[in-house]
Amino acid sequence: MKRIGIVLAVAVTAAGCATMAADTDYGKAALDLMKADFKSKGPATLDRIVNQDEAQRLCSEYPTERPKEVAEKIEAEQLKLVKYPADGKYLGKWQEGEKIAQNGRGMQSSDKVGSPNGGNCYACHQITKEEISFGNIGPSLYQYGKLRGQSEEILKYTWAKIYNAQAFSACSNMPRFGHKGILDEKQLKDVMALLLDPASPANK
Ligand code: HEC
Repeated sequence: MKRIGIVLAVAVTAAGCATMAADTDYGKAALDLMKADFKSKGPATLDRIVNQDEAQRLCSEYPTERPKEVAEKIEAEQLKLVKYPADGKYLGKWQEGEKIAQNGRGMQSSDKVGSPNGGNCYACHQITKEEISFGNIGPSLYQYGKLRGQSEEILKYTWAKIYNAQAFSACSNMPRFGHKGILDEKQLKDVMALLLDPASPANK
């Protein structure tokens, strides 16, 4: 973890309000604070913030820009963790996928443990023309299937992207839906259909 020395520490000490010594390990201090103040409740468990996996650790170490080798290492390792559908079928029902994309609930302290999560895709993506309330952190997915088709490569790429977004963009803002067990295999198939089924309103 990086140590940040503070040049102004002497002046601050002189002013009599220094609570942290110069050369404080702020990463550790922040983690200690979260461990002390945050409490697990229901499905919102503390291990989500205190137990970082290797990808999260590297993303914290390089929060804005990271060396190319670091990004490539994260992506290669995350791609290896993708589990493809056991029966080789990628598409479920787009109607169910739309409900999952609309649903922003799940994994919050007020949710029941074990209740199904939503995907909250609209928080970051445009998907259909009918839904006019959407975020734009992610690219528009309107006409995703119409523009890309349904080749084996596209099915595999789209599955892997939704399963583990970091397999293609290290430190992505997009949740790792399959990898983190946010959505199960059936739900993943349903959101796949929302994007790829020609009958889906996403492709009209
Ligand atoms: C918190 C924001 C966020 C959420 C929620 C989110 N995404 Fe994304 N998504 C992104 C971003 C940002 C990208 C651009 C690439 C990257 O940074 O990973 C992206 C990229 C994608 C891509 C690749 C697009 C392309 O042109 O190759 C697909 C497919 C996708 N998202 C599907 C989904 C689906 C389906 C859901 C819901 C289950 C979802 N996303 C939820 C932020 C999000």
